[in-house]
Amino acid sequence: MAKNDLSKRDGFTSKFGIIAAATGSAIGLGNIWKFPYIAGENGGGAFIIIYLVFIILIGVPVMMSEFIIGRKAKQNVFGAFKQLTSHGFWKIIGIMGVLAAFLILSFYGTVASWTIEYLILAFKNSFSGKSADELATMFDTFSQGAIKPVIWQILFMALTAYIVIGGIKKGIEKYTKILMPMLLVIIIYLDITAITLKGGVEGFRFLFYPNFSLITSESIIDALGHAFFTLSLGMGVLITYASYFQKDTNITNTSISVAGADTIIALLAGLAIFPAVFAFNAEPAAGPGLVFMTLPNIFELMPGGYIFSILFFLLLAVAALTSSISIMEVVVAFVSEEKNISRKKATIFTAIAITITGILCTLSIGPLSHIKIAEYNIFDIFDILASNILLPLGGMLISIFIGWKMKKHIITDELSNYGTIQLKFVKLFIFLVRYLAPIAISFVFVHGLWDILIN
Ligand code: PHE
Repeated sequence: MAKNDLSKRDGFTSKFGIIAAATGSAIGLGNIWKFPYIAGENGGGAFIIIYLVFIILIGVPVMMSEFIIGRKAKQNVFGAFKQLTSHGFWKIIGIMGVLAAFLILSFYGTVASWTIEYLILAFKNSFSGKSADELATMFDTFSQGAIKPVIWQILFMALTAYIVIGGIKKGIEKYTKILMPMLLVIIIYLDITAITLKGGVEGFRFLFYPNFSLITSESIIDALGHAFFTLSLGMGVLITYASYFQKDTNITNTSISVAGADTIIALLAGLAIFPAVFAFNAEPAAGPGLVFMTLPNIFELMPGGYIFSILFFLLLAVAALTSSISIMEVVVAFVSEEKNISRKKATIFTAIAITITGILCTLSIGPLSHIKIAEYNIFDIFDILASNILLPLGGMLISIFIGWKMKKHIITDELSNYGTIQLKFVKLFIFLVRYLAPIAISFVFVHGLWDILIN
């Protein structure tokens, strides 16, 4: 008997498990580190309004498309297109998805390794008594090293692999059901502490006051690109997860819940960070350093800073972990189903391969920083290739597949769970995936290429 008999396929056991896993994938470093910073840089409130429009009009329909494809095909991202169409072209989505998973998980592992180091430093109260310069040097010295970041990266990948080996019920669902509520509790605690800081109101204003004069065409493109990254769209993570959905999972409601939760957490992260940044006169647009260099400064100055710092880096680590398992699952499902090998072997093989490419990313900050294409090191190249090219292109193809290629009755069957739920917005949905999503996404894609060409 084949090792991967589809009728014996693993799957989620509850609605809450599905929401925990899917929001676990969506909520990650993108929400807690990237969103506050790019929102701040692009005019705060005005940017957030544009981003919300993209989440609703493009993010949710593309997410629904991935769910429809995954649950209908009940296979990994490559197998899904093999099964749904005889035309070989669409398998390209699967190939791009697996490639994007490799690239994203590689640099995700690098940032996760920094998170582990900072969690330990927080525990040891190592930020205490250090000046801003000393904290910056501390980050540079650590991240440019060759041993420690690599060891933490291996540890993080091993933890990710451990959960993925367990499968869906006994791995991904089991752990995300514990980790996601934990994340919510931590972030709410951080928000309460941050909002009550004296001088924090300025942070509120910065984040929510819509100043449209700061919006440029680039901010609009950034907002769309980030909507993709933050919702884990365009590379088959959600196709793979949906292949384990139950018959009665409501695809429309699940998409709205996941997108809603992801957005709320991004806003809560901004609320935890900016009031503190303003209360202590730090630089709001400090970019990648914001979390690792600026925040430790603030922890030192604020009441309860010791606990706050531990909880913050724990939050970051948990968010990174529940996203990284979803990325690894894309490759593991692909390898185990297409090559017909056991989940355990597929996971070990995948984890080792991605750890190797990931170490290249980590070392590209320090020892391998001389290897560059244009001004970009390996870490940047992986990020640009995945986020600016593969995700938008994948998302565009997925929406075109649903809008133009998939039979309409399959779409309505999946959205209505074979007639058991009343359909409300099918016409709007078809319009969005047929026209609006492909056109808008192609803008991001062209922008991504343009960025590379002019640099
Ligand atoms: N959505 C995750 C985040 O915001 C990143 C991610 C991208 C995860 C693509 C899976 C796929 O951090």
